[in-house]
Amino acid sequence: MKVYILTLFPQMFPDLLGSGILKRASDRELIEITVRNIRDYAHDKHHTTDDYTYGGGAGMVLKPEPVFEAVEDIVSEINNGIDITIPVILLTPQGRLFNQQIATELSGYNHLILICGHYEGVDERIREHLVTDEISIGDYVLSGGELASMVLLDAVARLVPGVLGSSESAADESHTGGLLEYPQYTRPPEYREWTVPEVLLSGNHARIAQWRREQSIIRTQERRPELMGKADLSAREKRFVEGLQKKK
Ligand code: ADE
Repeated sequence: MKVYILTLFPQMFPDLLGSGILKRASDRELIEITVRNIRDYAHDKHHTTDDYTYGGGAGMVLKPEPVFEAVEDIVSEINNGIDITIPVILLTPQGRLFNQQIATELSGYNHLILICGHYEGVDERIREHLVTDEISIGDYVLSGGELASMVLLDAVARLVPGVLGSSESAADESHTGGLLEYPQYTRPPEYREWTVPEVLLSGNHARIAQWRREQSIIRTQERRPELMGKADLSAREKRFVEGLQKKK
């Protein structure tokens, strides 16, 4: 997968890309991340990327020309004359709310272009005529789209086949299958007076799997009840949830 990030602050990215899973993924050539400065596509003497908002009001707005040119430049590099559709994603608090399902959907593309929005807004023509998707990482306002693009990139990269080793498989994680993850323990079996649940020491794989599944359900029901409606549950598990609700 090739990911292109357009930003006014390229200096924010090297640490992220040079460590952890993203570094490993690019070392193994599973992901290639290119960070481009929007300012490099501004042609005037001062490399202007923002301007006053028409109609008045506080704050500067990201100008359309450098953003259009940057995206068109990338698209023509990728396409080589062949017409393929590449998601062009604007990170903005006005976008659809990012979640694991969207991360999975985006992990299926060969190319992504991420535009880090300006904290005070972008010219509406960028939204209307360039961008194919707008994504928010939460209902709060960041100073720019950079941190949001990093969050998206991390969540998407770990779903690209081969990026996680088999021992780190995404299959059991929170939000995979719509439930939160079950509680986990490691050695020692007793720490202070707190013991590891007996079932986990039993070696009985079927009982352990059932316990984990039930714990995931209990945890999701307690902490994020709004997720339960979409969770993938068997008939027996649905009865288990009804039992939990009756106990309340
Ligand atoms: N830019 C500023 N705030 C944001 C948010 N919550 N999500 C995505 N991009 C943003």
